[in-house]
Amino acid sequence: MKRVIAIYPGTFDPPTNGHLDLIQRGAAIFEELVVAVLRNSEKTPMFSLEERLDMLRECTKKYKNVRIDSFQGLLVDYAARQKAGAVLRGIRAVSDYEYELQMAWMNRKLDPRIETVFMMPAEAYSYLSSRLVREIVHLGGNVSGLIPPLIERRLREKILGDPSAVIPKKTPRRKRSK
Ligand code: PNS
Repeated sequence: MKRVIAIYPGTFDPPTNGHLDLIQRGAAIFEELVVAVLRNSEKTPMFSLEERLDMLRECTKKYKNVRIDSFQGLLVDYAARQKAGAVLRGIRAVSDYEYELQMAWMNRKLDPRIETVFMMPAEAYSYLSSRLVREIVHLGGNVSGLIPPLIERRLREKILGDPSAVIPKKTPRRKRSK
């Protein structure tokens, strides 16, 4: 197998266990994996670029061949500057496929030297997304097992203003009066 540098691009707002699962898989097969956060995207992220880079660095420090970076402009131009031969993207479900295929084809048209490689996260993360995680925390739900504890603390701090804010307990059902 050739030694290939791969870019894993995304918004990571915030990184989830699904992203981290993919980073682990990517780090196992590529010589180097550059996790690249898009700067100035059309989306307005909840976390600043620095916060997202910081969370990613913290969560991936155990991997010697994973580097955290940011980029702006065309992904293929960034990949070429990094001397990368591949772009790694995760596909969770068939619904991801159409959008990902369109991007992969367009990136191939822009620079045919760069291959897009799709990987599946563990089945347990197939329904997981940053958007849903943000929404669940906002509405007081439980996200344990979906994001690392350090990201959960940051998210609670950002959304609720308190990192230790407890998950609201279910209101006990009242006994029916006979
Ligand atoms: O996590 P996301 O939001 O799905 O990531 C999307 C991302 C960052 C991979 C995509 O928006 C991107 O590559 N943007 C860079 C600009 C670019 O190259 N656009 C043409 C893509 S075909």
